[in-house]
Amino acid sequence: SKGRYHFPDNFMWGGATAANQVEGAWNEDGKGMTIEDCLPYREVGIADFTRQFAFSSKDLEEALAAEPEANYPKRRGIDFYHHYKEDIRLFAEMGFKVFRMSISWARIFTDPRDEKPNEVGIAFYEEMFKECRKYGIEPLVTLSHYDPPLVLATEYRGWYSREVVELFMKYARVCFERFGKYVKFWLTFNEVDAMLRHPVTSGGLIEDRFPDVPFERAIYQAMHHQMIASALAVKLGHEMMPGAQIGCMMTKLCFYPYTCKPEDNLATQQRMRSVYRYVDIQVFGEYPGYLKREIEKKGFHIEMEPEDGKILREGTVDFVSFSYYMTSCMAASTEGLDMAPGNTVNGVKNPYLTSSEWGWQTDPIGLRISLVELYDRYRKPLFIVENGLGARDTVEADGTIHDPYRIEYLRDHVNAMSDAINEDGVELWGYTWWGCIDLVSESTRQMSKRYGFIYVDMDDYGNGTFERVRKDSFYYYQKLIAANGDVE
Ligand code: BG6
Repeated sequence: SKGRYHFPDNFMWGGATAANQVEGAWNEDGKGMTIEDCLPYREVGIADFTRQFAFSSKDLEEALAAEPEANYPKRRGIDFYHHYKEDIRLFAEMGFKVFRMSISWARIFTDPRDEKPNEVGIAFYEEMFKECRKYGIEPLVTLSHYDPPLVLATEYRGWYSREVVELFMKYARVCFERFGKYVKFWLTFNEVDAMLRHPVTSGGLIEDRFPDVPFERAIYQAMHHQMIASALAVKLGHEMMPGAQIGCMMTKLCFYPYTCKPEDNLATQQRMRSVYRYVDIQVFGEYPGYLKREIEKKGFHIEMEPEDGKILREGTVDFVSFSYYMTSCMAASTEGLDMAPGNTVNGVKNPYLTSSEWGWQTDPIGLRISLVELYDRYRKPLFIVENGLGARDTVEADGTIHDPYRIEYLRDHVNAMSDAINEDGVELWGYTWWGCIDLVSESTRQMSKRYGFIYVDMDDYGNGTFERVRKDSFYYYQKLIAANGDVE
């Protein structure tokens, strides 16, 4: 390497998407309905998470009765279902070594209770993996990225119902059996900690369906079931696909103490534990003491089967993957302090950082800190499977799109990764930029919050041609990958 930035020769550069945010074709070829298909577009404030993720049985009724032209953005995504060949060709043109994507459970089983999988759905992913392989792109596959089949919410009570573990295992088995020859890298649940923030999209839990259980207790119970399902899937995956690497995926939130007051430091430490609590289980194979205590203090009892301890111990992950976008601060008392929105959480605003238009505070050094923290805590190889900047882009009269803000964000975070590898000795396998092609935002369901190196001609209301256009950042990432990260 000539310059300052060094990455291992086999470092996996690439990009990431999720089925529910790109595929569209929500009711084609035997795909069953999912929760995400029922989330309407809402004009809400950029930091109004409570409202963005609010979902009741009434919303569900409305979604089921909606006219075809009603604005349910996840139903159309970016129509990746019909454009994947073109899109993967563009990823290959950038030089991707890896493409992170997720499988839609409802495409594999029209109804999760079905005995037999939907062969048309299977064929779609088979073709997609072949397409990746054609260009030497390694697929990195998430089994569950925020799109529970609707039946889980209506016929069960989402992941609160233990039966869902079995249904999930039937789905996981089919994926391993049919896709194992194409896919070596797997993740079980996206942002596994997220159910405590948005129970409906992570767990299919609709609050008004729990008149008999405190809703928070229901969420902890559902989390337990996901832990069991994840561990069982890791074990089964290892048995069925020797050599497979199966990881967990967490939201790597990072909080700094707002001041050096011990009280603020303590509050920060407590907050950071809540960031790690479920990944601790997936890596160490048991509930950490502080999580048991947290549940106990709330007066909740989690139902467990006698074999659960063994399942958790036997299903620990091979690597730790995570999303990283921003940092914020913690204070023992937030009274009078400015708050900043972030990746579905609010924190105290950091006066030393600048923010995206959505208020997410950009912090490349926080990425280096996060890598070190995770490596010291878990001593497992790490994979950054989401990092990126949501911004509005302008298409110039000549059709070009200049996005220097995105290039700067990318470059600064790549440099921070290089420092973590070379200065701090962290083992990092790869980096997949979130939303390598513009897609529907998870939290706001906007198209106008764009992450891509590739522009998709569509607005928040579904108007547009779906045409794909290379932004300036496309050429920058191409250059960066070709130089294995060593660019200024
Ligand atoms: C992560 C999710 O939380 O952040 C993605 O795993 C999501 O699905 C991404 O898209 C960015 O968030 P948003 O709300 O800007 O789409």
